[in-house]
Amino acid sequence: MISLPFKKKSSTISIDVGSSMVKVIEVDRSEKVPKIVHFGISKLLPEAIVEDEIMDRNLVVESIIECIEQAGVVGKEVVTAVSGRAVIVKKIVMDKMSEEDAAEAIFWEAEQHVPFDIDDVCLDFQILNEDIGANQMEVLLVAAKKDMVNDYAELLRDAGLKPTVIDVDSFAVQNSYEANYIASEENMDEVIGLVNIGSDVTNINIIQNNSPHFTRDISIGTNNFIENLQKELGLDYEGAQQIIKGELGEIDEAKVKDIFRKQVTDLSLGIERSIAFLKAAGDADKIDKIVLSGGGARLPFLTEILSEKHDIDFSIHNPFAQVEYEEGVFAEYEEELDAIAPLLTVGIGLALRKAGE
Ligand SMILES: Nc1ncnc2c1ncn2[C@@H]1O[C@H](COP(=O)(O)OP(=O)(O)OP(=O)(O)O)[C@@H](O)[C@H]1O
Ligand SMILES: [Mg+2]
Repeated sequence: MISLPFKKKSSTISIDVGSSMVKVIEVDRSEKVPKIVHFGISKLLPEAIVEDEIMDRNLVVESIIECIEQAGVVGKEVVTAVSGRAVIVKKIVMDKMSEEDAAEAIFWEAEQHVPFDIDDVCLDFQILNEDIGANQMEVLLVAAKKDMVNDYAELLRDAGLKPTVIDVDSFAVQNSYEANYIASEENMDEVIGLVNIGSDVTNINIIQNNSPHFTRDISIGTNNFIENLQKELGLDYEGAQQIIKGELGEIDEAKVKDIFRKQVTDLSLGIERSIAFLKAAGDADKIDKIVLSGGGARLPFLTEILSEKHDIDFSIHNPFAQVEYEEGVFAEYEEELDAIAPLLTVGIGLALRKAGE
């Protein structure tokens, strides 16, 4: 969204720098069905990025370079995304005006809605509904701290890349969801909660008819679950990671379920608050279904625990539903492709964007 225009090309390379892993994906869009032609994933040490804040630049740059090499991509132009506390997404109401005029007026509007100094943020917007009556229109405002955006761009340049588009994680998730989901008459008005659980941050985006109602990032992720599992079960980091991935081994299921039931509170609160917000804004009075993605989507018992708690249907997003991949691209992961699929949601969503979108 906070973007520079990029040349029309048939393939797009995305890079998702998460706080635990860097993912690179190249999607070829020259055929009707998009096809993943390159893929790379490399781990980051936990201290390299903490809650979207870059703590150790060199570690991150090295990891990006390693990931690019592993993927075997040759292009330099990449699309990427940011998230976390330094990004604000808000639906606002403005006087009705042309897109050009709005591009000027948005600075004044943003001052009222963004808790940062306007000179310190990159702004972007999209007119969601150009006429909501009373001579007003509805606009999606996106503001991201310049420092953070520049930092990310610089990081990619240090790794020899050329960032052309800097999007927002939540929108990339939405793009992946929409591209992989077949709309029908019955489900077109559904209010859908897209919840992308990363290792440090969870992106919540509530959408209806392909447009966001409410978007917020909360500081919770698989790392919180890992910490708690370590504490409660006396496991080391690796042991706890195994559980996160659903490999319980000898560990008692009931115990894990119990720990997760307690641990899920913060996430639940985030969901509750989103619903309260939707109601207060008059946008919707409930969420029809919630679709999980990110590394936390497959936390054992999570969909079950959350469905019970919220009386909403929870499912796991499949970013490969309408996307093909070239033979061998996931050779190393063939058996666990389902397991890593949710982690690729942001990367696939980014790489599926068409020029100018
Ligand atoms: N098959 C898997 N391989 C690796 N990690 C997995 C797997 N399944 C679940 N995980 C968990 O997912 C986490 C990574 O999730 P994800 O890639 O969505 O986070 P991130 O993008 O790095 O972080 P954030 O978005 O919070 O900055 C890992 O830390 C791990 O706990
Ligand atoms: Mg992430």
